[in-house]
Amino acid sequence: MAKVVTYEELKAHSTKDSLYVLLHGEVYDVTQFIDEHPGGDDVILAEAGKDATQAFEDVGHSDEARDLLPPLLVGSFEKDGALQIGDTKTPGSSASVSNAVEQGSNLMYFVPLTLLGAYFAWRFYGA
Ligand code: HEM
Repeated sequence: MAKVVTYEELKAHSTKDSLYVLLHGEVYDVTQFIDEHPGGDDVILAEAGKDATQAFEDVGHSDEARDLLPPLLVGSFEKDGALQIGDTKTPGSSASVSNAVEQGSNLMYFVPLTLLGAYFAWRFYGA
């Protein structure tokens, strides 16, 4: 069974000598990695003992960065711990994007049909 990491354990590993980070409900041991982090060590240290998900996602880390995570996994964070798991919704949901596309295609039909209607109105009722 996968290990469950408590809030106390997460807090206990919040220095450069032993550092855990919480991302998407999973806890990773980044002690070895932190010196190689392209973003520097202080940005990760600033997230020690907290949910680093938002900070990690805000940077827009690449797939290569995400591929580094699995070998560092310690376990899952206790769900009802003292810390709330961050909201991981991404801005601009897919629903609002498809709405915008739909509105665009409606307009694509509306404009030529209005012009056609105007032409026939002019043709039959006009001069
Ligand atoms: C612990 C897991 C993490 C891993 C494996 C990781 C890995 C990486 C990698 C590989 C890059 C190079 C660019 C890319 O491939 O996306 C990067 C850049 C960066 N990371 Fe992380 N990172 C982690 C956590 C964090 C956290 C918690 C922060 C907090 C803000 C952070 C901030 C940054 C920043 C600011 C850059 C950009 C550096 C630059 O382009 O100058 N990273 N990270």
